[in-house]
Amino acid sequence: MPSDLVWSKLQELRDNALSAIASASDENALTTLQKKYLGKKGEVQAYMQHMKELSAEERPKLGALVNEVRDRIEARFAETEKKLADARLMADLKLRHEDLSLPGRIPNRGAEHPLQETQREIEDIFLSMGFEIARGPQSEWDYFNFEALNFPADHPARDMQDTLMLENGSLLRTHTSPVQVRTMLCYEPPIRIIAPGTVYRRDDDVTHSPVFHQIEGLHIEKGLNLTHLRGILQLFAQSMFGKDTKIRLRPSFFPFTEPSVEVDIACIFCHQKGCRMCKGCGWIEILGAGMVDPNVLREGHIDPEVWSGWAFGVGIERVAMLLHGITDIRLFFESDLRFLSQFRV
Ligand code: DAH
Repeated sequence: MPSDLVWSKLQELRDNALSAIASASDENALTTLQKKYLGKKGEVQAYMQHMKELSAEERPKLGALVNEVRDRIEARFAETEKKLADARLMADLKLRHEDLSLPGRIPNRGAEHPLQETQREIEDIFLSMGFEIARGPQSEWDYFNFEALNFPADHPARDMQDTLMLENGSLLRTHTSPVQVRTMLCYEPPIRIIAPGTVYRRDDDVTHSPVFHQIEGLHIEKGLNLTHLRGILQLFAQSMFGKDTKIRLRPSFFPFTEPSVEVDIACIFCHQKGCRMCKGCGWIEILGAGMVDPNVLREGHIDPEVWSGWAFGVGIERVAMLLHGITDIRLFFESDLRFLSQFRV
C-alpha cells in the first residue's frame, strides 16, 4: 500500500474508532470495541504489518502515528468508561430514591461516661504511686461487709433500712471496704491496693443514689502512721483538683479504722471565701479514711503488732460532681444525651 494511503486509512480508522467508542451504549459494548481496536490482533496493531512496505525514513513516522492513534483511542475508552459508570450510578441512585444533594447524616460520636472518666483519673493517680487494682463481689456476705470490718451487731448500718438484702442471705455491698479483708486474706503484706466498684444503699435524693461507686484504698506496711495517709491524700487531692489544693483531716468515726478521719479539701469554687457549695465554711468533705483497726487486720490474718495500715474510701460520683459543678447525682444515671454530650472531648 502506498504510504499516503496508509496515513489516510489510519486516520479513518482513528475517527471511526473514536466515534464508535463514544456512542457505546454500555460497558459490554465497550469491551468488544476494546478488543476490536486495541487487542493484540486488533485493527490498530494490524497497521504495523505495513512497516515492511515503507521506506527506512517512513517507518518511524508510521510507528509514531500508530502510537498516537492508540493513545487517542485509549483516552477515549477511559472517558467513555467513566461516563458509563457515572450514568449507571446515577440510574441506581434514582431507582433507590437517593438524593445526593441532601446534607449527610452525621452519626453520634460516643464518649467516655463522666463517672468512668473520673474513676480512670483516680485510678491513674494511685497506679502511678505503685498501687494495684483489687476487686470484690457486689453481692457480698454480711461477714465481709460488716462483721470483719468491726461493725457491732446492732450497728444502724446493718439495719435493713439501709442495706439491700438478697434472698440467699447475702446482701448488696454498701461500700467497697469489704475488699480490704478479702485482699488481706489472699495476699501477704506489704499490700498497696485500690478497689473501685459499684455499691448499693437504700438512699435516693439529689446527692444520694441507690447505686453508686466508690474507690477503696488500702496500704499495709511496717511502721505506717497518719502522716503517710495524709501525704498520699494530699497528693491525690492536688492531682485531682489542682496543685494548690489544700486538705484538712477532721476527727471522725468508722468501725474499721482507729483513729478515723474525714478529709476535706479547701473549697475549689470560692477559694474559701464561703459559698453555697461549701455551705459558707470554705471546706468540702471528699472522703473518709483512717488507720486500719487492729481487729480488722486480725480478721485478715495480719499481725497488728508487726504491721500497720491506713485506708480510705472515696465516692466517685462525689468527686465527679465537684469537678464538674454538678448538683444532682441523678443526672449521671439518666442517659440523657443533652447532659452526657457536654463531657465529650
Ligand atoms: N466505707 C466508708 C463508707 O462507705 C468509707 C470509708 C471510710 C472507707 C474510712 C475507708 C475508711 O476505708 O478508712 O462510708
